[in-house]
Amino acid sequence: MMRILITGANGMLAKSVIKRLGNEHELICTDATELDITNQELVMKKVAEIKPEYIVNCAAYTAVDKAEDDYELADKINADGPGNLAMAAKEQGAVLVHISTDYVFNGELDVAKAYVEDDEVGPVTVYGKTKLHGEEEVKKNTDKYYIFRTAWLYGDGNNFVRTMLKLGQAKDELNVVSDQHGSPTYAEDLANIIAETIEKKIPYGVYHTTNQEFTTWYDFTNKIFELANIDCKVNPVSTEKYIEIMNIKQAKRPKNSQLSKDKILSTGITIPTWEDGLKRYLEVELNK
Ligand SMILES: NC(=O)c1ccc[n+]([C@@H]2O[C@H](COP(=O)([O-])OP(=O)(O)OC[C@H]3O[C@@H](n4cnc5c(N)ncnc54)[C@H](OP(=O)(O)O)[C@@H]3O)[C@@H](O)[C@H]2O)c1
Repeated sequence: MMRILITGANGMLAKSVIKRLGNEHELICTDATELDITNQELVMKKVAEIKPEYIVNCAAYTAVDKAEDDYELADKINADGPGNLAMAAKEQGAVLVHISTDYVFNGELDVAKAYVEDDEVGPVTVYGKTKLHGEEEVKKNTDKYYIFRTAWLYGDGNNFVRTMLKLGQAKDELNVVSDQHGSPTYAEDLANIIAETIEKKIPYGVYHTTNQEFTTWYDFTNKIFELANIDCKVNPVSTEKYIEIMNIKQAKRPKNSQLSKDKILSTGITIPTWEDGLKRYLEVELNK
């Protein structure tokens, strides 16, 4: 049993992490009111009091579009925050588990390929830039870290699947982007990777951690409707067309969010496919 500090405890991923780690470990769960990760003095004090063996940072500024006009706050939460946690973890000899994103890449890689951990980064959004800065702050301040880059996350919180279930029941027809490629990732499966990391003590470093296999938002939506028995026509549209039809302004979305899992799989940790994750999620979601 480990003593583990969880930050951002009300977030979507945090809920799954708390559920998964709660039976085996002693958890100290803190939300933004109890532990604002941007407050360096408080972070140092709290971590020194709690003396955790692990810190799992689930806190983040995740509003991708809003971040475009909110660089300062996004950077404070996504970069200063993890930097503070890394510093405090080092002082206490704790291990930091930090969550990052595919948005650290520019998303322009040929879709026949998936990004590996050492590929050149080059974020093109404010959110991506601040998350990359967060990775750098972690690496600068401690050697005992795991940076898990994930993508297309869904779980107990507002997410794409919930939105599609609602829209699919309300409409006869929907336009969904078909030229962005990635792996939908069930928060419970990422929480399991975190639990297994702690159990197996895999080597520190950066890992890509999404569900297995790749799809597009369009194919993902069709699968959601098929599994949920929703009769709604899905029209595939390009990102450009979608922006035009919806008349919206949005931060640039990566065309290629595909992350190779070869490195994490080589540690012996197993990861289910996105379709398997979706089936388990819908069993919970549709029986509420
Ligand atoms: N969602 C995705 O599709 C996705 C994709 C790739 C990577 N990720 C990464 O995965 C991680 C988890 O994402 P998520 O979707 O679970 O995020 P989330 O639901 O937005 O949760 C983030 C939590 O952080 C808290 N928080 C914000 N500022 C804080 C501060 N200064 N101190 C402490 N807590 C603070 C928020 O609290 P309040 O709500 O009270 O502000 C919220 O509860 C993040 O690192 C994110 O960047 C997510």
